[in-house]
Amino acid sequence: MTAIRLEGLSKTFARHDGTPLPVLDGLTIEAGDGEFVCLLGPSGSGKSTTLDILAGLTPRDGGRVLADGREDLRPVVFGYVFQQPRLLNWRSARQNLEFALAARDVDVAGARHRVAAELSLVGLSDFADAYPLTLSGGMRQRVAIARALVIDPDVLLMDEPFSSLDELTARRLRSELLRIWERERHTVLFVTHNALEAAFLADRIYVISNRPARVVGCVPVGVPRPRSPEDPSLLAVQRQVIDLLEDGGAATHDAPGAPARPEPVASPTVSKEP
Ligand SMILES: Nc1ncnc2c1ncn2[C@@H]1O[C@H](COP(=O)(O)OP(=O)(O)OP(=O)(O)O)[C@@H](O)[C@H]1O
Ligand SMILES: [Mg+2]
Repeated sequence: MTAIRLEGLSKTFARHDGTPLPVLDGLTIEAGDGEFVCLLGPSGSGKSTTLDILAGLTPRDGGRVLADGREDLRPVVFGYVFQQPRLLNWRSARQNLEFALAARDVDVAGARHRVAAELSLVGLSDFADAYPLTLSGGMRQRVAIARALVIDPDVLLMDEPFSSLDELTARRLRSELLRIWERERHTVLFVTHNALEAAFLADRIYVISNRPARVVGCVPVGVPRPRSPEDPSLLAVQRQVIDLLEDGGAATHDAPGAPARPEPVASPTVSKEP
């Protein structure tokens, strides 16, 4: 387990016509050791880019990425559940997990029990030999989660893993995820569009603005665990998050000439970035 800190991250992509597309502008977020942190923001604001930078898949233009206060991320094992499951369709569920282990130079033959345990954890023991295209969307997402867990990550990155699932399946998987997290205590950075999902899962929720993304505010979720999805106090957290999302709309740079909205006013329960 590892504490992570993204400090003053900046990133500009090139649009197809070559003009710059600033995506991140001084974004600072952190997750303590074993903390479950959610990241919410408008579509296209740079959430996946942020996770990709943390995982070392996309280079940053500026800022720092720290693990336990150090800039050396080589010792950190990241488990990444991508926005799409990104499974190898010509390999079975079991072989997808074995492939992830082999990529980390783990002896696959010696790790068969781990593969079986992770597939069992996500309820797929009976589907270990099934190929991804024969599985439902929810089952594919479970394989992707098991693949991220089997390498025993220090930090679990999850990019809207449940957003394409029906609500009942998503509910079940959220509870399963919390059960796993409470046992393993990975540090989790979880991206979602769903404020209620974030309230149910997170210790803390960062809300980021339209791109170029900056933190609009951070909502601590004080609701005791285990939580019920029906707990009315989650609705109050959801409201705070939605208010911040609305505030974050003021930061859009996509609409030149749009009138500036006033800076949000701080509330006593929600910390807002200056
Ligand atoms: N490799 C790339 N080259 C050029 N532009 C990119 C690249 N990757 C992402 N972008 C652009 O950067 C912006 C941020 O993308 P990103 O995928 O990080 O957003 P997001 O917040 O994850 O959005 P969503 O909620 O829709 O998943 C988008 O406008 C996207 O088109
Ligand atoms: Mg995304």
